[in-house]
Amino acid sequence: MLFIIITGVLILTAAICLVSINENQNLALEEYKIVSAKLPEDFDGYKIVFLTDLHCNEFDYQNKALIDMIDGCSPDAVFVGGDMLVSRTDSSYDVALDLMRELSLRYRIYYADGNHELRLKRNEEVYGVAYKEYVHQLKEFGVIHLSNESVMVDSGISAICLTAYDMEEKQYRKFHPAPPSVEDMADAVGEPDPDFFQVLLAHNPNYFRQYSKWGCDLVLSGHFHGGMVRLPKIGGVISPQFQLFPKYDSGEYQIGRSIMILSRGLGNHSIKIRLFNRPEVSCITLKKK
Ligand SMILES: [Fe+2]
Repeated sequence: MLFIIITGVLILTAAICLVSINENQNLALEEYKIVSAKLPEDFDGYKIVFLTDLHCNEFDYQNKALIDMIDGCSPDAVFVGGDMLVSRTDSSYDVALDLMRELSLRYRIYYADGNHELRLKRNEEVYGVAYKEYVHQLKEFGVIHLSNESVMVDSGISAICLTAYDMEEKQYRKFHPAPPSVEDMADAVGEPDPDFFQVLLAHNPNYFRQYSKWGCDLVLSGHFHGGMVRLPKIGGVISPQFQLFPKYDSGEYQIGRSIMILSRGLGNHSIKIRLFNRPEVSCITLKKK
């Protein structure tokens, strides 16, 4: 009997590993349409590709499959939500940098940090100057790297506002995370200008209510990797902060006039399992109401 149980567990584990390996390489394009009266006329039809949580994953040699999918969207800009690398002292960041270099030859890229980049930044005694070198490389490629700051994304005629919010470590804690207040957000990034359509790059989706109160029209988040395993009609099973069946796991959410798009991300780290949870390229089309 014990032999049958052990054999069954081994077969199940092997099956999960095989499906997961396949799934980790099986990109999905998710299309979203954001309709708003606040958008300027010339942003009607503006396309954004949103990438997050690559964690140095590769889709074919030198990420050709990923680049082909992005090219297929013909975006006006690429927004990056962070965690493109893995914060380990023995990790190379070349996969993320190679992708950014390649994309920067074709697109304007706006890059915000996730908890992995911020871990490098906040722990120089462990990681040395890795963060500074990484950001220096991004800037050399012409990537617009944002850290608790805002830029105007312009079309040549008018503009929308893009803000990147670097959350503190306590907001990423696995147990008893401390949500930011709206005042914390305003201290970090200022207050939004109500005259402009406001996009917020906020890596952690947990605090959508606060982002909405702060005053954004569109939030782009990642971090949760779709909940690792996705069950039919239930959704994601576990977040990286060990929340079971997290309220936000993937897709589109709305609070008041704020919409959040939560990507399943492109990779993972540590536990490399994805089940029924394909890596996502988000293609977002803005529509003037
Ligand atoms: Fe993350």
